[in-house]
Amino acid sequence: MATNENQSESRTSPVTSYDFPLKKIPKRSCKDPEAIEFIRKSEPVILTDTNLVASALHWNLRYLADHMGDGNFTVYKSNSHKFKYYSDKKCKMVKEFKPPTQQTEMTFSEFAALLRQKQKEKHSNERIYLQQALNDSVGKTIVYDFVNFNWGWLNEQQKLNNWGPLTSNLLLVGMEGNVTPVHYDEQENFFAQIYGHKRFMLFHPDQYKNLYPYPVYHPHDRQSQVDLDCPDYKKFPNARNLTGYEGIVGPGDVLYIPMYWWHDVESLKDQGETISVNFWYMSGPVDQIETQISAQQKMARDKKF
Ligand code: FUM
Ligand code: FE
Repeated sequence: MATNENQSESRTSPVTSYDFPLKKIPKRSCKDPEAIEFIRKSEPVILTDTNLVASALHWNLRYLADHMGDGNFTVYKSNSHKFKYYSDKKCKMVKEFKPPTQQTEMTFSEFAALLRQKQKEKHSNERIYLQQALNDSVGKTIVYDFVNFNWGWLNEQQKLNNWGPLTSNLLLVGMEGNVTPVHYDEQENFFAQIYGHKRFMLFHPDQYKNLYPYPVYHPHDRQSQVDLDCPDYKKFPNARNLTGYEGIVGPGDVLYIPMYWWHDVESLKDQGETISVNFWYMSGPVDQIETQISAQQKMARDKKF
C-alpha cells in the first residue's frame, strides 16, 4: 500500500505516500469558532497560534543536552523505521511475543551524542527514539520554559470541553523517518510540535473495522494489526476500505488528536530530528466515553485472533 518507501528506504518524498484516500486535517487559528467547534465535536484540527509551547521554541538537541540535567530518559531502539508500542505488563500474556523494539535508559546528553552518531552512520539500520514523560528531574531552565507554556489556554480548553485532569506530558525526540505505527490512545491529546516536522495520518474510530485492533490482552493492545506499508489483504480484507486524514505539523503547531482516533506519525525523512511534547487529558464523564467507543469496537478488541 505504501507507494514510495520500502525496506531499502529509497526516497523521493519527505513523507511516505499511500494509496488510500486521505483528506486534509483542517488547519485553523485557535480563535476561529470552527476550530473551537471541531474540538467540541471531538474532531481533529491543527491549531497554528495557540502559543502553547512558544516558550520552548528555542529547544533543539544541543539546548536540551545542555540543560536537561542528569536524569535518565527512556530510549527505544528499533532495527527498522517503525517503533510499534507494546505494553511491558502484557508481554507474558502471549508466549511467542517478541518485542519489536528494545528499551534502554540514558541521560539526555548520552542520547544526543548517540543520535548524532547514528545520523553519520550510513550503514546501520538501528534507529532510536526518546519518549519520556517530563518530570521534576529536568534542569531549571527547562522547568522555566515548561511553566511558561500557555497553561491559560489549556485550562480554558479543559473546562470548555469538560475534560478530566492532565495526566502527563510526554517528550518525544526522534530521528528523521521514525514512524509510530497506527494506534489509538484512551485520552484526549494536544500534540505540540517544537522542532522539525511530523506527518500525521488520522483515522476516525469507526475505521476499527478496517484496522483490525489486536485483542485487549495482547501487548500490542490499541495498535492495528495492519502494516500500512505492506497490508496483508488476505488476512485483513477490509484494510482496502481504509480512509483517513493527513496533515503536517511544524514548530508551534498544535494538533488536537481526539481520544480513540487512530493515528500514525512519521518524522519527515531527510529533514533532521524532531522534538514534540504532548498533553494528555483524561476524558470527561463516563457517558461521554460510551458514545465514543462503540460496542462493536470493544468486541473487536476483546476477540481472540
Ligand atoms: O511518534 C509520535 O509522535 C507519536 C505520538 C503519539 O502517538 O501520540
Ligand atoms: Fe498516540
